[in-house]
Amino acid sequence: MNRTLRIVHVVGARPQFVKLGAVSREMIKRNDFSQRIIHTGQHYDTEMSDIFFDDLDIPKPDVNLGVGSDTQGRQTARMLQALEAELLKHKPDWVLVYGDTNSTLAAALAAVKLHLRVAHVEACLRSFNRFMPEEINRIVTDGISDLLFAPTRTAMNHARREGLLEHTVFSGDVMYDSISHYRRVLDRDPDDFFTPGLPSSYYLATVHRPANTDNPLRLSEIFAAFAALPHPVVLPLHPRTSRTVQEYGITPENVHLLSPAGYLSMLRLVLDSHCVLTDSGGLQKEAYFLGKRCVTLRDETEWIETVHDHWNTVTGADRNAIVRAALLPEPAAPQKDAFGCGNAAGVICDTLLSQS
Ligand code: UD1
Repeated sequence: MNRTLRIVHVVGARPQFVKLGAVSREMIKRNDFSQRIIHTGQHYDTEMSDIFFDDLDIPKPDVNLGVGSDTQGRQTARMLQALEAELLKHKPDWVLVYGDTNSTLAAALAAVKLHLRVAHVEACLRSFNRFMPEEINRIVTDGISDLLFAPTRTAMNHARREGLLEHTVFSGDVMYDSISHYRRVLDRDPDDFFTPGLPSSYYLATVHRPANTDNPLRLSEIFAAFAALPHPVVLPLHPRTSRTVQEYGITPENVHLLSPAGYLSMLRLVLDSHCVLTDSGGLQKEAYFLGKRCVTLRDETEWIETVHDHWNTVTGADRNAIVRAALLPEPAAPQKDAFGCGNAAGVICDTLLSQS
């Protein structure tokens, strides 16, 4: 192939910006790609969006569809409508979609209906919990994409079981690429990206999944566990969680609240914490890559490798289980290299070129 491959990336929510950062950086290094970035506007606050583009040096989106928040159906429908119009204007060779958000699903659907080729980055993950909107987004996106980039061997096994192996490539995890790159930045400038006013010693937590935030029983159990821990819990608060904490009249005890943190500040917070308590998928991996134990505040995880390695304990929202897990010692064995070798974006670029 001796012409430039025209790529459209579609992103909309925080974890997707991190994945896009790794892939777009690799594409910029090569001369084979022209890139266009469409932001659906699913996340729109500065701390939920712009800060990631600045931290990760991602070119500003070419267009922002400004879709914003809504119910699952209406948000996805508005994205689908706006994306169709946008993709018709600039028909690319490949549409790249990332992860498992409503922006991922809408982009894959809009593109395949226009007979554009779709590649799914971070494909074939399964939680086997169909109450999660993300699980539905994953199953549908994998089913209709032309090319699937699997981050782990477990994801490859899901592809095999579902008959998707023929167009699945093991790439490794682009979030591991990102950490490998930015870990060097943090080590070079250890005084940068500190959040001022933190307790001297702390646990780091995030809570944003509807299964936790929209269920007062689960949310109260999680905050009861935080109150029982021997050090304060630093909690950058997702806007939805902030609203529901007020709605349910929960008074967080032993908790140091922050606004949502940018990418590099968050990595600094992880590195300096005792351990991480979270219901985020991305943060489970970031903790693992940075050598911190994780307590997963969900009933299951897609990142089963981290659990097999004893660096992650899945506790659900059971207060005693959360406290017990947070107090566990660090595992003796280091983390394994289940997420590739930090060159997932390179594999993705090579594969796109070879298939075009
Ligand atoms: C989405 C993804 C989830 C991902 C998460 C990362 C789906 C189904 N879920 O969930 O997989 O882990 O992003 O954060 O796509 N809000 C703001 N400002 C913003 C964005 C959202 O205030 O910039 C508030 C709104 O009240 C909104 C709520 O957060 O209703 C939820 O936003 P939503 O777009 O549904 O996504 P997340 O819950 O963040």
